Amino acid sequence: MLIRRPADIRPSEITPEAVFRSRRRLLAAAGYAGAGLLLGAGAGAAGIPAGHQRLTGVKESPLSSRETPNSFEDITHYNNFYEFGPGKSDPAEQSAGFRPRPWTVTVDGEAGVTGRFTLEDILKPHPLEERIYRFRCVEAWSMVIPWVGFPLGDLLRRFKPTSRAKYVAFETIVRPQEMPGQRSHVLDWPYVEGLTMAEAMHPLAILAVGIYGVELPNQNGAPLRLVTPWKYGFKSIKSIVRISFTVQQPHTTWSAAAPEEYGFYANVNPRVDHPRWSQATERRIGSRFFSPKQPTLPFNGYAAQVASLYTGLDLVRNF
Ligand code: MTE
Repeated sequence: MLIRRPADIRPSEITPEAVFRSRRRLLAAAGYAGAGLLLGAGAGAAGIPAGHQRLTGVKESPLSSRETPNSFEDITHYNNFYEFGPGKSDPAEQSAGFRPRPWTVTVDGEAGVTGRFTLEDILKPHPLEERIYRFRCVEAWSMVIPWVGFPLGDLLRRFKPTSRAKYVAFETIVRPQEMPGQRSHVLDWPYVEGLTMAEAMHPLAILAVGIYGVELPNQNGAPLRLVTPWKYGFKSIKSIVRISFTVQQPHTTWSAAAPEEYGFYANVNPRVDHPRWSQATERRIGSRFFSPKQPTLPFNGYAAQVASLYTGLDLVRNF
């Protein structure tokens, strides 16, 4: 099952209008402000520019936040993706030439099943879910993002990690021709990240393939990115081409660049400030610039689900 040709979308996978309509009523009843946007008369009518490929068969998730999602415009025009430049608008402006298909992901390390897999092989068995999550950047801004993806743990289990696998490492593609930021040495390329196995297997950790019901735009990490909503955004590595099961804690880009500023765990913690940003409060992107900042919640509001992962760990030293 290693390298296969991408499968075309079959007509049966195109969701009938009636299904969209009933889902729209359901979401509206649940108070989901984005329902009209997401499930209106198609992406073009939703404030989502034409040309974005809609994802089909996406189920709602009980793990979604009820908070109002940020607009498609906010989510796709205020980004960090240093491969396309260090400015917030660089990823949207510089990523049009990036080609997220065809795509392969190499899986290696402490696992029974390893190899190089097409994106289609990676995605095929996984039903897609919409997960509306709070997203908190270490720079003290936040958003609410309606991701489309599937649980990371469901994918990792397919590779049969051995008992020696204690961590999972991730790597972003290196393509300086398509990623102008990689022609400078602002960071060490490739961008790398990692999680403990327990974190990676947690049901809140997902691999995202879309936002707002359409495929991930390039600037958001097409075609496949990590999302761990209880951690600062820099953990959510984009455009993943390698997943490695490791014995040792993997190197991570930002903690290698500035170890005093960025830790391996990077759990959202209002009590541990970054040298340049107080973490006690955050600014929600899209709110009026002078509106009061809102308090930051431990683990970004997901403490009830994830705090037990860190029992006995000093979260000030292990920041
Ligand atoms: N992944 C790669 N490969 N390169 C990056 O520069 N930036 C990180 C993370 N993933 C980054 C990355 C940071 S700092 C943040 S806050 C989030 O992506 C931003 O995700 P967004 O642009 O979709 O909001």
